[in-house]
Amino acid sequence: MLFTVSKQLILYCLYALTAMEDNNFAGRLLAWYHENRRNLPWRNTHDPYIIWISEIILQQTRVAQGYDYFLRFMERFPDADALVSATEDEVLRCWQGLGYYSRARNLHAAAHQIAEQGGFPKTYEGIRNLKGVGDYTAAAIASFAYGLPHAVVDGNVYRVLSRFFGVEEPIDTGGGKKYFASLAQALLPEGRESADYNQAVMDFGALQCVPNSPRCIDCPLSDGCVAYRDGRVSEFPVKSRTLKVKERYLHYMYIEAEGEIALFKREGNDIWRGLYEPFLIETNGPCGVEELWAGTEVPEALRAGDAVLTFLCGGVRHQLTHRTLICDFCKVELKAKPQDFGRPVCWVSPHEAAGFAVPRLIAMLFEKFGLC
Ligand code: ADE
Repeated sequence: MLFTVSKQLILYCLYALTAMEDNNFAGRLLAWYHENRRNLPWRNTHDPYIIWISEIILQQTRVAQGYDYFLRFMERFPDADALVSATEDEVLRCWQGLGYYSRARNLHAAAHQIAEQGGFPKTYEGIRNLKGVGDYTAAAIASFAYGLPHAVVDGNVYRVLSRFFGVEEPIDTGGGKKYFASLAQALLPEGRESADYNQAVMDFGALQCVPNSPRCIDCPLSDGCVAYRDGRVSEFPVKSRTLKVKERYLHYMYIEAEGEIALFKREGNDIWRGLYEPFLIETNGPCGVEELWAGTEVPEALRAGDAVLTFLCGGVRHQLTHRTLICDFCKVELKAKPQDFGRPVCWVSPHEAAGFAVPRLIAMLFEKFGLC
């Protein structure tokens, strides 16, 4: 206990000293930003709704990928009222292909919170209480919309600060996270410049101080950068452990009967909840289609009659952040729609299917085989 307290104390003294003797980090960063800033549509406004939508889209998504989604989303849902009036399915449809679908579900739920409160919250705590808003997003919205002094801390910030100050604290421990949060807050300039500083550190991390092959050669901050001075740029940020990516084995059956196809809404608590997909069987390891078809997971209703099973592809690997999906895809043609799958089913024409939000993996398979 005594050790924990004193270690923490030493760390806080260290960051206070670092922030005081910071080689004018914030000033240099702001100068870089005024030369290099990206002109992005959510930066020319103080409207908290617009900023909120952009920040949720930009969670786990690069600007280049999120840009068009942002424009489409704003056109379809220009304010919180439009979002409240929509169904969750409509919001998910607009989000299709962007991934991390809990963001869309949370946006929809948070729009209802906003409506119940009679408007967008105006304090950091109020913003932080919205569904889907964490420390980072709350700080970004509070700072960009209201000029409140909250420093953003994300992967860019860990990388930039750890390199510039040579911070060896691991970014994936509670202590390390607290250390970086305190350091970032101590570096934040006061007043109107705090919002620009937050935008600056995001752009600097995205354009200059990038994860691989950072542009140190033309970096105006390199003469104050500890990692650059010591030739250790690639060693930062420090992590205490590396995440193991798990594998999941998914077997999809595209079921066709009477000119319609069967889609199933994903339930449960996973990243694709609320999206639609063909009939799915998941196994713990690799499993051939014949073995699967003969096994107990395939409902009798599907096997009965004159089902024609066609294997379309197998072993397709689809990478998510913490999962590798290994997927087989086959088609099952039936003369008549079965009565009971043991789970709720939507029968739709292939044309109607295009109006359902499906995971990107499924959209790619449909496209590859010209199915919907
Ligand atoms: N990533 C997260 N928020 C961002 C923003 N406001 N501008 C650019 N990139 C971002």
